[in-house]
Formats: sequence, structure tokens, C-alpha cells
Amino acid sequence: MRVGLLTGGGDVPGLNAAIRAVVKRGEGEHGHSIVGFRNGWRGVVDGDVLPLTRQHIRNVLPVGGTLLGTARYHPRAEDGGIDAVLATLEQERIEALICIGGDGTLHAASVVAEAGVRIVAIPKTIDNDVFGTDQSIGFDTAVWIATEAIDRLHTTAESHNRVMVVEVMGHHAGWIAVTAGIAGGAEVVLTPEEPFDIEKIVKYLKHRHRSHASFSIVVVAEGAVPAEGSDMPYLPPVGKFGEIVAGAIGERVKMEIEQRTGFDARLTVLGHVQRGGTPTPVDRILGSRFGVAAIDAITRGESNVMTALRGEDIKLVPLPEIAGKIKHVPADLLEVARALA
Ligand code: F6P
Repeated sequence: MRVGLLTGGGDVPGLNAAIRAVVKRGEGEHGHSIVGFRNGWRGVVDGDVLPLTRQHIRNVLPVGGTLLGTARYHPRAEDGGIDAVLATLEQERIEALICIGGDGTLHAASVVAEAGVRIVAIPKTIDNDVFGTDQSIGFDTAVWIATEAIDRLHTTAESHNRVMVVEVMGHHAGWIAVTAGIAGGAEVVLTPEEPFDIEKIVKYLKHRHRSHASFSIVVVAEGAVPAEGSDMPYLPPVGKFGEIVAGAIGERVKMEIEQRTGFDARLTVLGHVQRGGTPTPVDRILGSRFGVAAIDAITRGESNVMTALRGEDIKLVPLPEIAGKIKHVPADLLEVARALA
């Protein structure tokens, strides 16, 4: 069988492990030909193919990013985009397609599957907000990087008696902020799940600095917003693709803390550093498990499903059930972050 493969949306560490697993298992066990598309859905629309062999996947496990390239491009948003996808698949004689992506890529995958293409999807995003799976490829590495950054900021915060504000990614959900905040021992964690009251934070920091500490770490998810009616009017600035402008909320929180407490404060925006570099073993293993599960599912004739981690197991969940939904941080995890602040 000729099986297409693409990676779409923001890159994450661990994508190459998934690509490698699809190629190794697909060629070796099942005798398929794996045809990569460069730069996500853009490559499918343009017919930009890279036939994948064992040579392409040699030594890729520790390498971040994606050997196929990626792009933020949604065929369903373009005029004739879906038709162009179908035309390329026919021209390349692709019988099934594996799509590795976050919510945007998966949404497009579900539309293409409904047009009759056999599709199995694999979830990836450092934000960990893909619905239906306990974890997505890339999240573990991002949490590791953010935790290490918080650890490092602790020593400089303490030396200078400062409030260090760290902005991490997390557009719709605060998974990185909460988990790295817990792991790094942050004093305050702000997430999209719980709009915040700046006055409460300021009161807490003043109390902490008066009573027993001279420094604090405040972790802010990029999608965090002040509560309605709170004493901090704020409209999140967004970019061309509806993405959050990096550093905007972090800068505002830092400024408000500085002005309202008189403490010295600094901002660190981790940004794309969280998406770069070597994947952790957890992401390599998850990518490998998802890759094998996806090509096995394709071979069995499954379609319009996504591989998902559920507890210890890899399951398949129907794409239409998860497309367009966000997996938020649950209340008990938010409570742990709050309880340990
Ligand atoms: O992949 C999701 C994400 O990491 C978001 O948290 C962030 O808003 C966005 O990517 C940034 O994407 P870009 O690479 O397009 O700047």
C-alpha cells in the first residue's frame, strides 16, 4: 500500500521518533511504501513529496523538529484547498494518510477523512491540549525545559531579591505552566483555565516577602487572562494567525507587580526554546508507540481515528469526537499548584 505521511502545525521534539516508527514498521512489517509530504498540508496541496526510506530515518531519534518540515496551513481555510488535497492524493496513488498534528491539523484531517480518504491521526503539541489523549508528543520535553528554566531562575531571583516572571507557551490551556510550576516550585501559576485577580497576587507576594522570603517565581501561561471586572483591564494582542503575541501577558504581569509592590521584577519569555532540541525519552517512546499504532491501524483498514494514550494503553479514538475540542487542565491539578504555592 502507498501510505502518505505529514507533520503539520508547530514542530515539537519527538516527531522524528513517530516518523521513524511509521517508516520502519510500515516498510518492514507490512511492506508498504511510505510517501512523506513536506511542510504539512501545504505539501499535500502543492504535491511536494519525499518518498521515505530507511536512510531518511537513520539516527533521527535524538533530533528535534521534523525531518518532513511543517507549516501552519489549513487546506479547509483556503479556496479549493480540500479539492487540491484530494487531487494530489489521487495523482500520487496514496491509499491512506497518517497526519501528525495538533488541533488545527487534526481538524483538517477529519474534514479530509469525511471526503473519503482513509486517515489515521497522531496527536502532537507541547501545549498538551489535544482532546481525547492523556498526552501528546512534545509535551514532556517542553515541561522538562520549562522546569529547568525555573530552577535556574530561582538562584538569580534569590541572589537579587527579585520577582521573576516566566512566560511559557499554552495558548488555550495551561498544562506547561501548571506542571512546570509544580515541578519547579513556583510561587504563583497563572493559566487560561483560571482568570486571575492581580490584586490577590500582589497581596500574596507582599505577604510572602514581608514574612519569610525575598524572592518569588511567577509562571504565566501565554493564554492567561485577568478575571472580568478585576482591577487590570487587558485585551490579549493576537497575531496574523490568531496566535498569542509572545511576551504580552508576561510583560503586563511583570509591570503590574513592579508598580503595585515596588519589588524589583524581571520577565523571561521562554518562547520557542520550549519546542526545540532533543526530545526526552518519554517523547521518543510516545512518538514510537503512536507511530506503530497508526501504521498498524491503517493496515487493518481503520479510518477517521486518532491514536491516544489512555492510562498505560494506546487506543484509537474517533477523530470527529475530538476535532475542535480543547483538553483543559483538570481542577485537581490546578489545586495542587495552588496548594503548593
Ligand atoms: O504549538 C502550539 C504553540 O506552541 C502555542 O503555544 C503557541 O502560541 C504557538 O505554538 C506559537 O506558534 P508559532 O510557531 O506559529 O509562533
